[in-house]
Amino acid sequence: MKIKKINQNNRWEELYKKGQYQGSYPNEDVIRFIQHHFPDREKRKNIKILDWGCGTGRHVCYLAKEGFLAYGAEVSEAGVKLTKKWLNKEKLKAKVDEIDGLTAPYRDNFFDAIIECAVLQHNEKNQINEIAAEMKRILKPGGHIFSLCKAKQDSLFKGGMRLEKDTFYIKNSVETPTIIHFFDRKELKLLWHEFTDIKIEYTERTINNMAKKVAHYIVWVTK
Ligand SMILES: C[S@@+](CC[C@H](N)C(=O)[O-])C[C@H]1O[C@@H](n2cnc3c(N)ncnc32)[C@H](O)[C@@H]1O
Repeated sequence: MKIKKINQNNRWEELYKKGQYQGSYPNEDVIRFIQHHFPDREKRKNIKILDWGCGTGRHVCYLAKEGFLAYGAEVSEAGVKLTKKWLNKEKLKAKVDEIDGLTAPYRDNFFDAIIECAVLQHNEKNQINEIAAEMKRILKPGGHIFSLCKAKQDSLFKGGMRLEKDTFYIKNSVETPTIIHFFDRKELKLLWHEFTDIKIEYTERTINNMAKKVAHYIVWVTK
């Protein structure tokens, strides 16, 4: 059955088919989050972790290798195929689902943790709120979320066509043209206000010989 998706003109579908934008290593802040919450390898075999917007699978493979029950959910069909291919190649096990972008085919209170690494930011504001609510539904009480999203301090902010407040259609960067929503601390606090233990960190680096800034928020919350 064909899934009706929020993101029909998904830019990544195109990039993945061309063999581009395929990360080989997990993001170091994802590793930090996992090591902090689940340091004991022996206890991982019953811990379920979902990578929402898993791309071509770098975190799904990392989670499977690290001994978790790994899950991936992705709107891009090509991303799902490439994630499965990578898992097969490395003889790793994980469940990977193609989703519509707003709902996830898992029961309430199912996951111990959910990762979203640069995924929410590629959606419009009302969708971001819906995805966060869906994440809350499928996360166990006491479960943890990791989120990495673009900050307004990034040089791309206001760099394209304005779609709504703080959301732009940006044409001139590596992973574009695509929609990018830029966050600030106040918005993040509101987005995750139904969670506890909210920690918001910020990272910034320069590129192009310091000509441009790449800025992200890293958010950890607990249900
Ligand atoms: C910048 S890439 C990041 C991929 C992956 N998280 C990583 O860190 O390698 C953004 C990914 O999110 C996916 N995506 C965007 N919106 C989504 C949504 N609402 N639900 C699921 N996947 C989504 C895109 O198809 C793309 O694969």
